[in-house]
Parts: sequence; C-alpha cells; structure tokens
Amino acid sequence: MSKILMVFFSQSGTTARIAESIAVGFRASGHTVDLCNIKHETPKSVDGYDLIGIGSPAYYFRPSINITEYVNSLPCLNGVPNFVFVLYGTYTGDTGNTLREGLRMKGAREVGYFKCRGADFYHGYLKAGYLFSPDHPLTEELSQAEEFASEISGIMAGQKYTRPEPDHPPAIIYRLERFFTNRWLIKTIYSRLFHIDKKKCTACAVCMMQCPTKNISADNEGQPVWSRNCILCLSCEMNCPQEAITSPASWPLFQPVMRYNVIRASRDSSLDYVRVKHIRGRTTRG
Ligand SMILES: Cc1cc2nc3c(=O)[nH]c(=O)nc-3n(C[C@H](O)[C@H](O)[C@H](O)COP(=O)(O)O)c2cc1C
Repeated sequence: MSKILMVFFSQSGTTARIAESIAVGFRASGHTVDLCNIKHETPKSVDGYDLIGIGSPAYYFRPSINITEYVNSLPCLNGVPNFVFVLYGTYTGDTGNTLREGLRMKGAREVGYFKCRGADFYHGYLKAGYLFSPDHPLTEELSQAEEFASEISGIMAGQKYTRPEPDHPPAIIYRLERFFTNRWLIKTIYSRLFHIDKKKCTACAVCMMQCPTKNISADNEGQPVWSRNCILCLSCEMNCPQEAITSPASWPLFQPVMRYNVIRASRDSSLDYVRVKHIRGRTTRG
C-alpha cells in the first residue's frame, strides 16, 4: 500500500473533479491519498509520500503560476515517482510539458501523465459569448481518470512505463500571447493596473472571496486593492456582479489575439462549445 499526495490548483472545479476520480482509482487499489487544492490550503511537506501527483489547469498555454511556484519550491525528489494531470479548455500548449520537465529537473521519476478537457470559464471567451468544452470532464473522462490511477498502481508494482511524447508546443501566435502573460509582467506590471470603477463598486467583496491567491484586500471604503500575487485568473473581473472591474486582459491590445483564439477554437471540429451570455458575473447558456 502506497501513501500518495496529490497537489493541484482548481479555480472552477474541473481539476478538482479529475483529482477526486484519480483518488478513487488509487483507493480502490488499497492506497491512501491526501488531496490538496492550493486554492484552499497550503500543501504539506512531500516527505514520507511514496508517490506525488501534480495537477494544473492550462493558463495561457502553461501551468498556472501558483502551481509552477509550488513545483519550483519542492526539494530534490531523489527518484520519487510522480505523475502529472492537466485540464484544458481548448489547447494545452506547454502546460504538461512544463510540469513534467519541472518535476524531472527536481529528480522525480515520472510514472504517468493524464490530460483531459475542462469547461473553459476564461473571461475573455465568456464575454465574446463562447463557453468551450462546456460539459467536460465528461463521465467517460472521469472513468478514464480512475483507470489512469490503476495503471499507475500497476507501474508502481513493477509494470513497464512508456513515457508519452511531449505535447505539441503552442503555435507562434499563442507563444506571443504567452509572452504577454508571463509571470514577471503579471506580478510586476498588470497586478497594479486592474481598474475599479468606484461609482459601480458596492464593496460587496465578491472579488476578494473569489481570488484564489488572496491577492485582493479592501481599502478604507471596502473597495478592492490588488497586490503582487496575481495569477491573472481573472476571477475578480469575471465574478463582479457590478461589472466594475477591468483587468489588463481586457485592454484593446489583447483583443486581436482573443478574437483569433475564439475564431480558431470555434472552427475546430475536435472542440465543442455552447453560446453563452455573461452578464453581471453570471454565465447563462443560449
Ligand atoms: C485565466 C485562464 C487561462 C486559461 N488558459 C487556457 C489555455 O491557455 N489553454 C486552454 O486549453 N485552456 C485554458 N483555460 C481553460 C482552463 O484550463 C480549463 O477550463 C480548466 O478546466 C480549468 O480548470 P479548473 O476548473 O480546475 O479551474 C484558461 C482558463 C483561465 C481561467
């Protein structure tokens, strides 16, 4: 029986659902599993675990910043087995590649890689009227996640592991988008440039409650102020019931790339989507 730690980030719940299905698969094979969504808790030390799983949504074609920082903070893993799981709405880009390579650099030994689609609540797409991969992960994808766990159990018991090839790196235009959403720009520049319309803001604190990194505090009037721990998830802007928040991602500069993304993804027959309206922090279909 192995002791397994799974650390992941899930803002809108799809990565958490896959994590839970993987955990179900492990528990069915008699292992113990500790799950940690870094949105809600600080991960425990990896000491004493026989297997470590790291999960992330694709954010701008790479892992979310908080997961990257977590992987960077890990000690040398000295051959500890690891697996990676990734959720994505349209194209993973380098999300899986970056996590797998980051863990390899830490000395971990890969025993599994899983990826599947998850409902894509990227604010820019919602505003454009599109919800990509709307009902994912599907029931069959949750079953595949359970099955993935039993495959890893077999590998831990001595079966051969064939490392999957790296994912296709993102196309040039997506790399450009990735450059403009790099960690340094987000933390140093963009985090200071969220705009709050003081006339619209009612100091309801929804933005503060939704922020996964507790990056937003209240000023004297209860209105939001952003610090430097932003991961550009856009939850504050997306959930604001007064539409009082404008993030740098809504600047006109980003709109051509956004339009390109929507056109390309909506014409890709391998992706599904539904048309939505996103008004006052709520997304409705149709
Ligand atoms: C800020 C942001 C950026 C995203 N970037 C990408 C991306 O580059 N590629 C992609 O396929 N999906 C992208 N997505 C979609 C998420 O990866 C996907 O919806 C995932 O299932 C969300 O995981 P969660 O529900 O656990 O938060 C993005 C979503 C958000 C909110």
